Amino acid sequence: MSKALDGVRILDFTHVQSGPTCTQLLAWFGADVIKVERAGAGDITREQLRDIPEVDSLYFTMLNHNKRSVTIDTKNPEGKQVLEALIQKCDVLVENFAPGALDRMGFTWERIQELNPRMIVASVKGFGPGPYEDCKVYENVAQCAGGAASTTGFDDGPPVVTGAQIGDSGTGLHLALGIVTALYQRTHTGRGQRVLAAMQDGVLNLCRVKLRDQQRLERTGTMKEYPQYPNGQFGEAVPRAGNASGGGQPGWILKCKGWETDPNAYIYFITQAPVWAKICNVIGKEEWATDPDYATPAARLPHLKDIFAEIERWTMTKTKFEAMQILNKYDIPCGPILSMKEIAEEPSLRKTGTIVEVDHPTRGKYLTVGNPIKLSDSPTEVTRSPLLGEHTDEVMAELGYSPEQISALRTAGAI
Ligand SMILES: CC(C)(COP(=O)(O)OP(=O)(O)OC[C@H]1O[C@@H](n2cnc3c(N)ncnc32)[C@H](O)[C@@H]1OP(=O)(O)O)[C@@H](O)C(=O)NCCC(=O)NCCS
Repeated sequence: MSKALDGVRILDFTHVQSGPTCTQLLAWFGADVIKVERAGAGDITREQLRDIPEVDSLYFTMLNHNKRSVTIDTKNPEGKQVLEALIQKCDVLVENFAPGALDRMGFTWERIQELNPRMIVASVKGFGPGPYEDCKVYENVAQCAGGAASTTGFDDGPPVVTGAQIGDSGTGLHLALGIVTALYQRTHTGRGQRVLAAMQDGVLNLCRVKLRDQQRLERTGTMKEYPQYPNGQFGEAVPRAGNASGGGQPGWILKCKGWETDPNAYIYFITQAPVWAKICNVIGKEEWATDPDYATPAARLPHLKDIFAEIERWTMTKTKFEAMQILNKYDIPCGPILSMKEIAEEPSLRKTGTIVEVDHPTRGKYLTVGNPIKLSDSPTEVTRSPLLGEHTDEVMAELGYSPEQISALRTAGAI
C-alpha cells in the first residue's frame, strides 16, 4: 500500500529528541528520511543512557526508526559539497542545532535557497526571536519557560516538571505539522519556506488553558474549581492546581485498594455533573443527590475536598481496575493510573501498533512506542533505527558518486 508522504525526501539534520521525534513521524508517514550524522560520532544520544555497552541506546533507537543514516563531516570542504548535493535532492531540511550553527556551517537560508528554491527548512529552537533567542535549550528548560512548571505540582511545593516530554517531543510534533503544511503550500507556490517551532511556544500552546485561567483570575480574583477555593489564597499568577481537572468538571486522583504498597494504585475520578446522582448511588451517599449543599455543580464547589474524601473511602475498597469496571457501567468518567510496566504489557496497545516490538541487529528485541497517529490509507510499519553510517554508500550512490569517489571522500574524512 502507498504511504501518505511517498516521494518526499527529508534531509534529517536533527539530534537528541525534539528534531528526531519530528522526522520519525514523517518517516512513519512514508517520507524517505536521510539522517546526516557527524562522521565518527553520530547523534550524541547513540551513547547516552546506554543499557548495553557499545550498543545504540534505547534513547536513540526509540527516536530514529525508519530512517537511513549517512555520516558526513559538514565542516570539511568536500563534506560540504556532499551536503550541497543532498540539499539539491531533498524537499525538506530539518534541524535542531543551537542557534546559528547552520549559518556557521555555511548553510544560511540564502545559500540553501540558491541551491534549491523549493527546499523547506524546518527548525526547532529553544526560543523564538527575543531576549533568549541565542540560548541552548533542553526539555525541562522549555517546560519552565513555557508555563508548564509554574502551573504543575501542589500549592505548598515547588514548581514541578512533567514526565511527558512536551518540550522536546511536543515541539517535534508541532514542527511536523508545520512541515506538511509548508509542503502543501509549495504545491501551489512552487517555493520552499522556513518553518520555526520554538520549544517555549510549543509548551505554551499546550498550556493554553493556564493562560485562560490567568485572565479569569485577573478578572474575578478567584477560580472556584481550583483546590485553593474556598479557603486558600490566590496570588497574582495562576497557582499550581495539584491534580484538579483542567476543564469545567472537577476531578482528583484517589487511592485504590493496595495503595499502601503499590505506588500506582490510584484512579482519576471526575465528578461529571450529568452523572452526579449515579456517583452518589455508587458510593452510598444517595442523600447527596437531592441535598441542596451537594445537588448542583455550583453548590458542590466549596465541598470538593470532602466529596473526594468520601469517594475515596469507596475507591479504597476496590482495585483501580475493579473501580473502573463499576464506574464505566454508569458512564462515570475515570481512569486508572497506569504504570509503564502495565502499559508495556497491555495487549490492546500491542494490537493497535501503539506499542511495538522491534528487532535490532546489535541490541536484539526491544519495545518502542509506534505511530500514535493512525491513517487508514497509510499504515505504519515500524522498522529499526539505522546503525551509524549504515546507508552512507547507498545514499552517496543515489547522489551519483562512483565507488572510487566514495572511497576517496572516505579517505579524506569527508564521509
Ligand atoms: C540541544 C542543544 C542544546 C545541544 O547543543 P550541543 O550539543 O552543544 O550541539 P549544537 O547544536 O551546538 O551543535 C554542535 C556543533 O556540531 C556541529 N555539527 C553538527 N553536525 C555536524 C556534522 N555532521 N559535521 C560537522 N559538524 C557538525 C555543528 O555545526 C555545531 O558546531 P558549532 O558549534 O561550531 O557551530 C542545541 O542543539 C540546541 O539548543 N538545539 C535547539 C533546541 C533543541 O532542539 N533542544 C532540544 C534538544 S532535545
